[in-house]
Amino acid sequence: MSNHPPVLNEDLTHNPGRRKLLAGSGAFGLAGFIGGGISIPSLALAKSVPGGSKLLGFDSIPASTADEVVLAEGYQADVLISWGEPLVDGAPAFDPNGKNSAADQEKQFGDNNDGMSFFAMEGGQDRGLMAINNEYVNEQYLFAHGDSKAHDLEDVKKSQAAHGVSVLEVRRSEGNQWEVVRPSRYNRRITANTPMRFSGPAAGDAALHTEADPEGMNVLGTFGNCANGKTPWGTYLTCEENFDTYFGTKEAYTLTAAQKRYTLNPAEPERNWPDFDPRFDVAKNPNEFNRHGWIVEIDPFTPDSVPVKRTALGRFKHENAAVTVAKSGELVVYMGDDERGEYIYKYVSKDKVDQANPAANKTLLDEGTLYVAIFDGDTNGTPLKGTGRWVALVQGQNGLTADKGFRTQADILVNTRGAADVVKATRMDRPEWIAVNPHDGRAYCTLTNNSKRGDENMPLNAANPRPNNVYGQIIRWDEKGDATAQAFSWDMFVLCGNPIAHPQGVNRGTPNITEQNTFNSPDGLGFDEAGRLWILTDGKYSNKGDYEGQGNNQMLVGDPQSGEIRRFMVGPKSCELTGITFTPDYKTMFVNVQHPGEEKDSHFPNNSPRPRSSVMMITRKDGGVLGA
Ligand code: FEO
Ligand code: CA
Ligand code: CA
Ligand code: CA
Repeated sequence: MSNHPPVLNEDLTHNPGRRKLLAGSGAFGLAGFIGGGISIPSLALAKSVPGGSKLLGFDSIPASTADEVVLAEGYQADVLISWGEPLVDGAPAFDPNGKNSAADQEKQFGDNNDGMSFFAMEGGQDRGLMAINNEYVNEQYLFAHGDSKAHDLEDVKKSQAAHGVSVLEVRRSEGNQWEVVRPSRYNRRITANTPMRFSGPAAGDAALHTEADPEGMNVLGTFGNCANGKTPWGTYLTCEENFDTYFGTKEAYTLTAAQKRYTLNPAEPERNWPDFDPRFDVAKNPNEFNRHGWIVEIDPFTPDSVPVKRTALGRFKHENAAVTVAKSGELVVYMGDDERGEYIYKYVSKDKVDQANPAANKTLLDEGTLYVAIFDGDTNGTPLKGTGRWVALVQGQNGLTADKGFRTQADILVNTRGAADVVKATRMDRPEWIAVNPHDGRAYCTLTNNSKRGDENMPLNAANPRPNNVYGQIIRWDEKGDATAQAFSWDMFVLCGNPIAHPQGVNRGTPNITEQNTFNSPDGLGFDEAGRLWILTDGKYSNKGDYEGQGNNQMLVGDPQSGEIRRFMVGPKSCELTGITFTPDYKTMFVNVQHPGEEKDSHFPNNSPRPRSSVMMITRKDGGVLGA
């Protein structure tokens, strides 16, 4: 939109001095034509964007390497719940020495809380439900023996029980503080062994048949639950990401092309579940692998509801599901596939959302069209902007035919990556979260980093313009029409970088990166009602070399109009900050400290002997709206 110029162009427009320097930047050897004629201007010469954003009502804080949560002045943080706390009726207390059993863990809050949503309950501002992903486990802390590998089936079952999703009831305690309600009929654990069903075009497909489920309609469990989405009808979407790392075999095994495309590495599963649970042994149960990598819908308000894997949304390493309703009424879901060189997708429902009749919305996630994105450069060669298109992944269209291995729509949905390859989608720098600005409908996507960009088989392109991209970027697009459109324009909200380590050149970042707010690896992303963009990081925080002066992982807030970015929160040692959600009054924010002490260097929270992933509540000491 014309009133929201890209950061780089704004700087060019409003700073004649900079325009002149850029025009001559070739002489400094700082601009180069690389990767198909994409020009990277001399970002080194850029000044920071002017401060004074009216949207951001707090002062940026310095980087921190402390083993604690650090917040902007006037804010406070408290723990809502940590891994292992009792959740379901009859759950035992957390054992800090790892001695809880698998059966105990099935009733306790899961590990590594990631994406999550707050659902307001009827009857006012003081009650809600939360659905919270438990992405994976830190085995060295999960097992009493302290090894990172399971020793027996009981260990595997404990690991499986610490995965999945936790549903919990919360109530306002005092001020803007909240507490978990115990007991509550809503409190529930969904694990890697919870019965669920398939729906959509791939349900029942031969690729999903197993000995235990010859019809391919029912499946056990969800794991690798990274981030999330929330539907307008009050259900939760949990996204299965690194599912491939749970499958393996000790037998000699020849991978299919599709298994390779989904990076299955049977000799070295990251978690040794296949050693004790044959469901995860790909030689014994090859199709079980196809039954994961989906988006799962959960109704948190119906405690005995069966979760549903919605196959129409495709199968890949799903990061999150950014749900929006198009002006014309269709449900639109933006999704990233988080791996180096993978794609950005969009799903558009066939029918329109019917707010007055929630039951009519049940098929919206089953009947619709899945698209994949192509990002083209600007026709005039201006860097960091361009146009793009959405290409439909529909059987019989765009070359997706039987001779390419796509006989049915189910073939496309089970091997979505392969279908997107056929239509030559744009290979991105690890798409993580996508968020839609409620004010103008623009979608923003974190491209977290890509050390392989610029290698022979992953050339630079307009949207992914830096070789060995250690810092990442946030790209945004504006649909031509409403969210159902098939064409868009795009620009770069920020190229992250480090002016301390790289005062000049492309690794300095765009002008909205300064020595004060420098960060790497944007990942979590969310808009609040006022249109502030909350950015959470999951990067390398050695504080040395490329990362000098960046401290621990952190949360920053961006002004979409001016491009200004301020650091709001820094997490404890070797954690990532992720999973952002707000109460409806925007006076309490929940944010996750995930895997603190991954490098065995943390006692978070409260000097815990084993560091524990925790859901944090952030509030303003004066009771005001966050960020304002
Ligand atoms: Fe679970 Fe891509 O982060
Ligand atoms: Ca994570
Ligand atoms: Ca992530
Ligand atoms: Ca990440």
